[in-house]
Amino acid sequence: MKSLGLYAHFPFCPCRCPYCGFTVVTGKDDLHERYATALCNELEAIARLAPAEGLASVFFGGGTPTRLEPRLLERILTTVRASQGIAVGAEITVEANPGTTDAARYADLRQIGFNRISIGAQSFFDQGLRLLGRDHTAADALGAFRASRKAGFDNVNLDLIFSIPGATDEDWRRTLDVVVDLRPEHISTYALTLEEGTSFQRRARSGDLPVVCEDDDARQYIGGLERLTAAGYEHYEISNFALPGRRSRHNWAYWTGGEYLGVGVSAHRYVDGRRSWNTKDLPDYLAQVEAGSSPTEGGERLDPAAATSERVWLGLRTCEGVKLGRVEREGLAAKRRMTDLVRGGFVQLEGDRMKLTGKGIPVADAVSVEIVTVIEDLARDAQRGPDPPVP
Ligand SMILES: C[S@@+](CC[C@H](N)C(=O)[O-])C[C@H]1O[C@@H](n2cnc3c(N)ncnc32)[C@H](O)[C@@H]1O
Ligand code: SF4
Repeated sequence: MKSLGLYAHFPFCPCRCPYCGFTVVTGKDDLHERYATALCNELEAIARLAPAEGLASVFFGGGTPTRLEPRLLERILTTVRASQGIAVGAEITVEANPGTTDAARYADLRQIGFNRISIGAQSFFDQGLRLLGRDHTAADALGAFRASRKAGFDNVNLDLIFSIPGATDEDWRRTLDVVVDLRPEHISTYALTLEEGTSFQRRARSGDLPVVCEDDDARQYIGGLERLTAAGYEHYEISNFALPGRRSRHNWAYWTGGEYLGVGVSAHRYVDGRRSWNTKDLPDYLAQVEAGSSPTEGGERLDPAAATSERVWLGLRTCEGVKLGRVEREGLAAKRRMTDLVRGGFVQLEGDRMKLTGKGIPVADAVSVEIVTVIEDLARDAQRGPDPPVP
């Protein structure tokens, strides 16, 4: 029986960070109770899909789940347990923003049953946090990490952002130094992206926000990679690092084609080869669930070519690469664009797996685009059949 994860989305945030493109709402704290009830109703309306032992992972993400009172988070987790079951030893993660969580709250989260916490520290220097428009200081982020440890969390992730406009390589190095000293089990390092519709994107377009060039971005990325791997972290996905045995099991399933349920506004799910997603509009979500209807807004079953491209795209991001069938292997090996990538030292074909090399990792997106194009060519060749003999 395949394993199954569950993602629950919490859109509430104290304020909207100027770079954030996630589905969030601010100043709607009066809706917390209603939202928790809607999540429970949605969970109860889904057929039980988890195997007998229960869900392998549960992830409460956002937004900021910790805006909700612990009693509401507990109610939702209890409903997850009752409706799908949670496997013994499952990974149960909650995301937290350092500005919204005090020591007592961390203790409550641990006591409710979360055994992993992901703290959005972003940076450990105040200037960087100000440039990002965050509502907390570096001391708050440090305090949040220490409070999580005191509360008994022995599986902690810290989210970090680099390529902050106006910040220097030295600022990034200082953040990495602090993080390595803290020794969380897991670290995510994201290059700041200018998301559609955000205030940062508007400012960058109007020339009001300096845009970090590709070279600076790559240098900071590699600086982070070298620092963290030297400190004993396994670089197991383009943006993710873990101490031995501490990869995020929930996210690993996303990258390797695992199945997951999704509840809450804007949540996505992937079950039985079909992907579907909920409405992104909070009033609409609440109205649908309260009326007893499904909040699902759309869905698609990927055709085999699209499914292959997605599998390759995501698999290449991981340290284990992507597993290829014999026909795929032979087809790729016969394509000039592919052999150029191998000869250029960007990818390696190792047994039945294709992986990015150290040289390919910093340019992963460009290399993946190239490989996916080759795979699409192969699919077209297969549809067209063999070329007619040359007269
Ligand atoms: C969905 S957010 C939730 C975390 C929490 N609300 C917080 O901000 O502390 C998860 C992570 O995505 C990353 N993130 C969000 N927007 C980003 C962007 N535009 N560029 C890079 N990373 C981003 C941040 O590191 C953030 O911690
Ligand atoms: S980055 Fe986090 S805290 Fe900021 S708006 Fe997005 S989800 Fe909310």
